[in-house]
Amino acid sequence: MLEGLDLTPAPAGAPGLQIDAAAASRIHRKADPSYYIETYGCQMNEHDSEVMAGILEKMGYRRVPELEAADLILFNTCAIREHAVERTLGRMAALKRLKYVKPEVIIGVGGCLPQQEGAVERIKKRAPHLDVVFGTHNLYRLPQLLESAQTSEYPVIEVWDAEGEVIENLPAVRPEGVKAWVTIAYGCDKKCTYCVVPYTRGKERSRRPGEIVEEVRGLAAQGYKEVTLLGQNVNSYGKDFAPAAYDFGDLLLDLDRIQDLERVRFMTSHPRDFTRKMVDAIAQSRVVCEQFHLPVQSGSNRTLKRMLRGYTREKYLDLVNYVHDRVPNAVITTDIIVGFPGETEEEFQDTLSLLREVEFDSAYTFSFSVREGTPAARMKGHLPEEVKKDRLNRLMEVQNEISRRRMMAAVGSTLEVLVEGPSDKNPDVLSGRDRGGRLVLFEGPASAGAASGGPGVLTGQLVPVRITEARTWTLYGVRRENELGRRQLAEAAPAEEVSA
Ligand code: 5AD
Ligand code: SF4
Repeated sequence: MLEGLDLTPAPAGAPGLQIDAAAASRIHRKADPSYYIETYGCQMNEHDSEVMAGILEKMGYRRVPELEAADLILFNTCAIREHAVERTLGRMAALKRLKYVKPEVIIGVGGCLPQQEGAVERIKKRAPHLDVVFGTHNLYRLPQLLESAQTSEYPVIEVWDAEGEVIENLPAVRPEGVKAWVTIAYGCDKKCTYCVVPYTRGKERSRRPGEIVEEVRGLAAQGYKEVTLLGQNVNSYGKDFAPAAYDFGDLLLDLDRIQDLERVRFMTSHPRDFTRKMVDAIAQSRVVCEQFHLPVQSGSNRTLKRMLRGYTREKYLDLVNYVHDRVPNAVITTDIIVGFPGETEEEFQDTLSLLREVEFDSAYTFSFSVREGTPAARMKGHLPEEVKKDRLNRLMEVQNEISRRRMMAAVGSTLEVLVEGPSDKNPDVLSGRDRGGRLVLFEGPASAGAASGGPGVLTGQLVPVRITEARTWTLYGVRRENELGRRQLAEAAPAEEVSA
């Protein structure tokens, strides 16, 4: 560990947030008020909603599953693509009637959308019945904002441009289970020309390693088996420390020593900042999973340059090859944008050829969406929607075929699966993920427990599953012990009993 860098967490009882447990009843002038949060976008937003829920529950709110029943309704929004924005605005606009018949309900909108240029005006126009608008930097001010909303005739709007210090010791309500999210850094210092994130989430701020290790240790002690480390660019973690000599690889190795923790995943990576040292740390660690989400965005060097991604196709391929060399069975996935302004058919073909060359396990594919205020919005050569759509379809066709092939390659192998519980559709089938992050469904002895309403005795355990079938997104298998058990039973039993 590094000298001169304070790795220790803030002392217990450090300032954090002072929350009044009677605040919710005071705001709503009733006992036991309830809240409902609707979340859009990435895992970072999902985790922010867990923090919002933590703050609200400390204020005395109780969560309800239906929007109509809540005294407080919050939207945690995403601004990454126009499609997401339109969906949220439509949803908020539709609450006009609810607000009319139940004027005492408080409706709020937070997250990335209000941070975007011009968005507050857009929100006010489409949903004038909203009571509170806040951004990503002042989430922890929720108690004060809700108090003001209660007394104010007009919507309370507080969106901060500047991000300020990292606030530690915020409460979070995580779903019970085996997996938890942990933020390691906020914001992003890259300036990819299509992306709104640096504007909505501000500059990069890493949490102190000691705070992160302590949080993960606490989660492991509570019974969580897997944590996913979150950041817009996890690979640049620690660059804002002075002196900056503790990096993402060091953090992974520190987390590797935590007892009772089984798995660590991370997202999202930036290929430019993913060093060989970090790949080596992953190769060497016990808990860090062989899952690499490496957004490439394009296979064309000219497009990558105009996207300001900071690497070439060749450099990206070097990284992928190094991952394959050092981490056997690595599952590699990516993000692709088609139809970036000025993208020619030939450049698009370069992306298709990259997909074929790398053979990604899967890819999240997007059609370029103009984000006001970003450099790409001002570029020449915006493509017609039909062209973008056509490229997206062709891209998905190529990738789906590759994904299917990659999944088929797992058939016959035995994978370590962390069981998350009964599957959504069939309580007799258990659902979990392998180390590569792939969804695995299998039948197991715990299914009886699950069917009777419990989580099933295997939930939270690592079990070997032999894969017997694969589809594009899901692997199917049998629990290895079951299979062995059946065979041994068959061998031991008289012939007529076995055939019966
Ligand atoms: N248009 C389309 N896709 C985008 N992404 C980010 N910004 C845009 C945009 N303006 C995609 C990138 C990123 C993922 C989270 O969303 O592929 O990796
Ligand atoms: Fe956006 Fe690029 Fe930062 Fe990712 S690395 S959040 S794409 S600016």
